Amino acid sequence: MDALITILPGDGIGPDVARAGRDVLARIAERHGHRFTFDEQHIGGIAIDETGDPLPADSIASCKESDAVLLGAVGGPKWSAPDATVRPEQGLLALRHTLQVFANLRPIRIYPELASASPLKPEVLEGVDMIVVRELTGGIYFGEKTRSEDSASDLCTYSRQEIERIVRVAAELAQKRRGKLCSVDKANVLETSRLWRSVTDALVAEEYDGIELETLLVDAAAMHLLSRPADFDVIVTENMFGDILTDEASMLAGSLGMLPSASLGSTHRGLYEPIHGSAPDIAGKGIANPCGTIASVALLLRYSLSLEEEAAAVEAAIEAVIRDGLRTADIANDRKAATTDEFTLAVLDQLS
Ligand code: IPM
Ligand code: MG
Repeated sequence: MDALITILPGDGIGPDVARAGRDVLARIAERHGHRFTFDEQHIGGIAIDETGDPLPADSIASCKESDAVLLGAVGGPKWSAPDATVRPEQGLLALRHTLQVFANLRPIRIYPELASASPLKPEVLEGVDMIVVRELTGGIYFGEKTRSEDSASDLCTYSRQEIERIVRVAAELAQKRRGKLCSVDKANVLETSRLWRSVTDALVAEEYDGIELETLLVDAAAMHLLSRPADFDVIVTENMFGDILTDEASMLAGSLGMLPSASLGSTHRGLYEPIHGSAPDIAGKGIANPCGTIASVALLLRYSLSLEEEAAAVEAAIEAVIRDGLRTADIANDRKAATTDEFTLAVLDQLS
């Protein structure tokens, strides 16, 4: 097949991991007889430096034309002064909003060989296989903000329609998996959460008969994620809770560097990014973990291009390389750490 893929490397380790992702896509195209065309564009801090805008018009145009967008990471100390008026993260939020990718899928799977990289006991990790569905284009991230010398505010709003569409995505995933859905909110305190809960309860009861629905308050969910992670199948939650809980959940997998994500809307076009940030402390050192990005490439192949066989091949390649013992520094423990390029080359070899 022919596909146009926009690559947005961004800042910090973003370019290192985005290159790994692009190389994997190119290898898949070569091996499976596809023609992928890449268009590399700026986002984030580098875009601010080049154009003054964290999401320049050229980047938007390219993303809107493409079948899928692969993003590295945005942000860094250079652009993060508390009084900065333009921030790299605004570019990412604007992109998610512009592409209307409201459903952020964050699968959390454990590679058995990495159990020792997690701070949790191996027996707690046994059988962990969950997917967090994070609402991505609403809530406090996008509400009106105010700021004066002595006070500030961020407005959190959710509409019934926004809640229904994300819960449907999650419920449909649950139907194809173990049939368990856990909705996370803060209904004992927040009005948005009370709406979230009543809409979710009603929708699941009406439309998803076979689904077992559990509801957790977000503080309790944070605890249950560590005490009984294997119980979870699909978790659905609002934007900010999903951001926080998935960083926590990454420790089940051993490192923030392991987790991929897919952001989907109502068309085939998706935005794919590792869930980690730009890690400025290791930027340019060539030691970043490319797994989160390469696993995001698998999601891109699966969800935007409907290439399930190719997606599975990429996932199997990551698994094989980990089984062979290769580890980047974040998960190396006592082993000699592989560089980003060494790890990526090993994945490419597996795909040959
Ligand atoms: C993420 C990141 C972003 C978010 C930042 C970089 C704006 O933490 O994708 O999880 O908060 O959504
Ligand atoms: Mg985050």
